[in-house]
Amino acid sequence: MSGKPIGVFDSGIGGLTVAKEIMELLPGESIVYLGDTARVPYGSKSPETITRYAFEGLNFLLSKDVKLVVIACNTVSATCLKELQENSNVPVIGVIDPGAKAAVRATREKKVGVIGTERTVKSGAYESAIKNMDGNIKILSKACPLFVPLVEEGWLDREATYLTIAEYLMPLKREGIDTLVLGCTHYPLLKPAISRVLGEGIKLVDCAKETAVVVKNTLEDSGLISRRIPAEGIIHKYYVTDNTEKFREIGEMFLKRKIEHIEKVRL
Ligand code: SIN
Repeated sequence: MSGKPIGVFDSGIGGLTVAKEIMELLPGESIVYLGDTARVPYGSKSPETITRYAFEGLNFLLSKDVKLVVIACNTVSATCLKELQENSNVPVIGVIDPGAKAAVRATREKKVGVIGTERTVKSGAYESAIKNMDGNIKILSKACPLFVPLVEEGWLDREATYLTIAEYLMPLKREGIDTLVLGCTHYPLLKPAISRVLGEGIKLVDCAKETAVVVKNTLEDSGLISRRIPAEGIIHKYYVTDNTEKFREIGEMFLKRKIEHIEKVRL
């Protein structure tokens, strides 16, 4: 059982931010990644549609015999994590609680900005998670729907990207936030651009590192951690629902490693 792969599900390429942290923290684990690139973005869709897509993704990963599933998509985690957990025979981990924990640890002034898709912001999932951990933190939320298409296009360092970032985020800076939660798996790919626009003084936190730690702890607690020597028999497989070449190109640039096994699938 411990030799089985970890499943990672995302609406597109953004979940690679979480997969990368898992690869770094757990080099003895294989990963099966599913990116629903044909239907991204999820963030502007209805909860019913997101839930349907999420179950299709979960069932696909379960059919690949994974030992644990990470829902790397914030929108899905904010919409239907509990339902997915209740209908899976392996542990299912979301990204909201790990991201909230990182924000609570980072803020000094107790003024936190949260950005995400329309659906994630509307759900109030980050607010509830942060407030549960520290009721004194003031939270300012903002949906940034244009960020996901910019990332999926690979527009990480363009003039239009900087202008879009400034339009969305300068009002939060003026409000005096000292920490900004990147509440969407795609946003860490924009980290250098966001830092350039916001300047120093605002900490950017994302759920990826913290989620990898939760994955490690869960595997250890349930006796599922791989005992393999890193690189020995480790195979990362990528499945997408559209264009494999574009995913490979942006993915390899971000992961800084070759994507060898990639396949287009129908869910
Ligand atoms: C999206 O599909 O709209 C973004 C994914 C996320 O919320 O992490």
